[in-house]
Amino acid sequence: MEIEFLHVFDKNETYHITELAKLLNLSSIQILELIAKINHLEPNLVVNTDSIYYLTKRFNWLNTDFVNKLLHQEQLDDYNFILMEKIESTNAHLLKNIDSYKDKTILSCNWQYSGRGRFGRKWLSHIGEDLAVSVVYHFNEDFNVGVLPLLCAVAVNRLFKNHNIRSLIKWPNDIYFENAKIAGILVENILRHKQFNVVIGIGLNNIIGQERNKFLVKVVLALDQLLSEFGSFGFPLLRREWLDNCLHLNEEVSIFQEGNIIATGIHSDITETGELIIKTDKDLQKFSSSAISLRLKNQNIDF
Ligand code: BTN
Repeated sequence: MEIEFLHVFDKNETYHITELAKLLNLSSIQILELIAKINHLEPNLVVNTDSIYYLTKRFNWLNTDFVNKLLHQEQLDDYNFILMEKIESTNAHLLKNIDSYKDKTILSCNWQYSGRGRFGRKWLSHIGEDLAVSVVYHFNEDFNVGVLPLLCAVAVNRLFKNHNIRSLIKWPNDIYFENAKIAGILVENILRHKQFNVVIGIGLNNIIGQERNKFLVKVVLALDQLLSEFGSFGFPLLRREWLDNCLHLNEEVSIFQEGNIIATGIHSDITETGELIIKTDKDLQKFSSSAISLRLKNQNIDF
């Protein structure tokens, strides 16, 4: 109901409470309850003066026809786009129903209310403003899924750089700009019937103010191009691009596992198979992307 309400509201500038009640076939009390609920989700989204209600921001809704048209323009017709107005988590939904979703299915939404991040963290997106998108890919069992987070990071980082944002990558696939995280990626997979069913989930803060439908298709295009580059040329060049855009190469970092520091040293490289290399006092240590997180030693920011 919240999204339906916002769709109606979005079309006009101001409404009296009774007009909203009539439009949505609800009582004035129900409208007030709905407004309270919405403002709880996003503080001060609906405000009023003298019983005239208005929104403090405009929404940029996703639209299936528009996205399909843009996918066609970019020659991405082999992708199947699904839009849900409201969903708990696009990744969780796809993983739970993975048998029903074929290769190159894109799922996005106008409001993801319980997005998830790495290590069970929460991912917050603003309604009708940020982008939460997940794409299904099916790979053969010999595909190196370990490098996928790094490939996705390169793809999303390129996207921001194409919009003149000097973004950087933090291990393994967070995108930062001026010490703030602007995109997070969650790659999840299931190995079944000799196939990796992979869900690549990307959450983007729309700091460039892009039209969301166009932004979404640009994300898919960036992913598609990256995967095709990887298919043709392998990891070496993309590994170089990851390193060249890394936030902490040659910096002192700490490596965490389940909240505990397990290594401290200089981030010196990544391997040909996408593991992080840390030069400690004693030796070189390698870490794969799935289990660890990284924090920069000499910065105040909690990454
Ligand atoms: C992280 O930084 O920890 C990863 C965040 C990933 C968020 C995206 S939004 C789309 C997809 N659906 C989810 O529930 N999570 C991912």
